[in-house]
Amino acid sequence: MPRINARTATGDDRVPSSRAQPAPAARGDGAAVEPVSVAACLADIEAFVKATWGPKIHFEFRASADLPLLTCNRISLEATIINLLFNARDAMPDGGVISVVAATIHEGDTAIELRVADNGVGMTEDTVRRATEPFFTTKSTGLGGLGLPLVGRFVQEAGGRLQIESKPGIGTSVTLLLPLSTSEVGQEQRLRGAASSPGSLTAPSPSSSIDQHTQAR
Ligand SMILES: Nc1ncnc2c1ncn2[C@@H]1O[C@H](COP(=O)(O)OP(=O)(O)O)[C@@H](O)[C@H]1O
Ligand SMILES: [Mg+2]
Repeated sequence: MPRINARTATGDDRVPSSRAQPAPAARGDGAAVEPVSVAACLADIEAFVKATWGPKIHFEFRASADLPLLTCNRISLEATIINLLFNARDAMPDGGVISVVAATIHEGDTAIELRVADNGVGMTEDTVRRATEPFFTTKSTGLGGLGLPLVGRFVQEAGGRLQIESKPGIGTSVTLLLPLSTSEVGQEQRLRGAASSPGSLTAPSPSSSIDQHTQAR
């Protein structure tokens, strides 16, 4: 599957690019993988959507102050977040609230939890089940069912988990649980002055999963 960047994914060439990062390494498919500041990425996207989307959508962006760097492809992360925001906007034709929260999880392996939630139309049980299928869509316009598969692919490559919770008439919440790489965890430990060495840490699980629920958030 070709890599879809934020521009092709959204059809909008005013999508922001995050601030400069250290020189990236190449991933197997040639995409650059580098330590990325999720907070800086969110700040850029927040500025973009607030400047370009109409007044009917109210945004709540929050990022924990202790958010560690995430080792990933920066463009894929941006495209992921923007796809979730577009889905949230599409779900609220009369406007509403979109919240984007990034927090550090310290239980077990250190990870970043990234959640995009809306109070839009929500999804039926069947739609939730099929939402990440390539080309599955309930819309008559747009690219047609490539957004959530792209999100799922990003999470899979990160070795993380994707959770979709939705209830018709109430809204939807999409959560990405993204483990840090072993070296990143080690770096964070060092920064915190911890005594243990990175080698003593548990590596994040390479497996990924998608949990889809229809329930109130
Ligand atoms: N936030 C959301 N609220 C309601 N439905 C959603 C939301 N996000 C995704 N969906 C449902 O999942 C389907 C697939 O989403 P996606 O893969 O992004 O494709 P597309 O947006 O092109 O339809 C959508 O057509 C919609 O039915
Ligand atoms: Mg979409």
